[in-house]
Amino acid sequence: MCGIIGYTGKESALPLILGGLERLEYRGYDSAGVAIIEEGSLIVEKQVGKIRELVRSLWGKPFKGKTGIGHTRWATHGAPSVDNAHPHTDSRGEFAVVHNGIIENYLDLKRELESEGFKMRSETDSEVIAHLISKNYEGDLLTAVLKTCEKIRGAFAFAVISSREPFRVVGVKQGSPLVVGIGEGENFLASDIPAILPYTKRVITLEDGEIADITPEGVNIYDFWGNPLTKDIMIVPWDLISAEKAGFKHFMLKEIFEQPKAVGDTVRGLLSEFDSFPFSLKDFSRALIIACGTSYHAGLSAKFWIEKYAGVPTEVVYASEFRYGEHPLGDDVIVIGISQSGETIDTKFALNSAKEKGATTLAVVNVVGSSIDRESDYSLYTHAGPEIGVAATKTFTAQLAALYYLAIGESPKKEPLLRDLLKIPSIVENALESAEDVESVAEKYLKKKDFLYLGRYLSYPIALEGALKLKEISYIHAEGYPAGEMKHGPIALIDENMPVVVVAPRDRVYEKSISNIEEVRARKGIVISVGFEEDDKLKKYSEDLLKIPEVPEDLTPFLTVIPLQLLAYYIASKLGLDVDQPRNLAKTVTVE
Ligand code: F6R
Repeated sequence: MCGIIGYTGKESALPLILGGLERLEYRGYDSAGVAIIEEGSLIVEKQVGKIRELVRSLWGKPFKGKTGIGHTRWATHGAPSVDNAHPHTDSRGEFAVVHNGIIENYLDLKRELESEGFKMRSETDSEVIAHLISKNYEGDLLTAVLKTCEKIRGAFAFAVISSREPFRVVGVKQGSPLVVGIGEGENFLASDIPAILPYTKRVITLEDGEIADITPEGVNIYDFWGNPLTKDIMIVPWDLISAEKAGFKHFMLKEIFEQPKAVGDTVRGLLSEFDSFPFSLKDFSRALIIACGTSYHAGLSAKFWIEKYAGVPTEVVYASEFRYGEHPLGDDVIVIGISQSGETIDTKFALNSAKEKGATTLAVVNVVGSSIDRESDYSLYTHAGPEIGVAATKTFTAQLAALYYLAIGESPKKEPLLRDLLKIPSIVENALESAEDVESVAEKYLKKKDFLYLGRYLSYPIALEGALKLKEISYIHAEGYPAGEMKHGPIALIDENMPVVVVAPRDRVYEKSISNIEEVRARKGIVISVGFEEDDKLKKYSEDLLKIPEVPEDLTPFLTVIPLQLLAYYIASKLGLDVDQPRNLAKTVTVE
């Protein structure tokens, strides 16, 4: 996690870097800092907390330097503190480094540097990079960085500036993301494209083992042996407007309301992209889906669709658990990695290991050019646009669309199924019209301390997703469970204080879900159900019914998730919490 940015050019670096950091803040927000080369000297300013604390501490300090780096941190090694905040400098204050990722051998390097007289001021793994560059410096920053890369191990990206060479930023990518932005008389480095989108849409995506040497006049890319490389420049299609709040109170709410477009754009994209794929799911004897968090829940839904329409046995595994099993895989297996960011390290490692074992890997990603996109054999894109809120919403329904499309690809009934899928954006639009009703329900329950979310069949992954949304942004304990398993334990939790959200559209398991609702009521639990709008029976059995328009059974996940996203959003928002940047989380998880 962590976001890094670097700039050198014709403008004052500070405002550009602070603006970029705000757009990177979703990656972590425990502390932030900048380093600017001001009249030949390195100035460093760091603060604990969000970027706004850093901005406050910079009031009245109008630095004009035209080269600088910035960092927003998600703490791994060392608690959030000013000492542990980046940038880190060498002992003489001539080199400043911002780093994202982990230096695995930092303890050995630290011991070695300390025995040579270097003094560490932080508990971080990152500080060793600044000292190593200083130690290796003999008049050329790039050479010092190349020598440093020989010593460090791990998954990382970093950027360095030096007062010895005031118009140069050198950036390294090995495992964590780093892009180069190409401007006119100015150039950029950043962890992610949105950080630099206001300034340029011309971007080079660095691969692992690459180094970017940027000056105001140009960009040179090298490998770790110092050999020059030629790279393509990509023109980014996203515009900045789609990364602003557009009148919504939070990005999360805006993104919930963008779901009709996200699903529609995804399906339209797939119509042209997927049909050129040289394989079909039926070519494989088995499918394995690997993902984390919300993307994992999309995978659980996809399992039902793939088994039903493609007839391919499908297993869904948490990427973080994948590496501990033996998982016999061969070329008869397709491994589908689902990831919004395309940078989740667990998913990336799991996919790479599956590929090494001979499986075909297919990525379902939102960020084009991300590591998972590049390293997989094939990619399907969710065209949801940038998602800024830490809690995934529109990318989830876009993932559902991509996975459903993949599953029905082989069905003889593909045409009518596709026609139904194409109606989903406008049906989701209708579901969003009930947002105010969900808001009133949120008001009733926001003081509750625990929630249970239940669902069966296709509604089970949605129960998990609803619970995840609530806990991550409202900090209220919520548990998602298969409704049929309730009697094997969780039913003991139910009393008159427990809201139980039951996802119960009229599908093949509807009657069984109604029985579960009766069991909850018999124990005085408070039933909040999610079901079709004309469902009087469900209404009668529930304290509150969160209504969705009626759709065919297979498409219910696109609709049932909407009121659950809204419920979590309104509860957290009414509790006055930081919905877009909940505590302890980051949008892109590049640590194991
Ligand atoms: C929850 C959420 C996370 C992500 C998970 C995987 O709202 O956003 O659980 O789904 O960290 O991230 P990606 O999809 O980027 O691999």
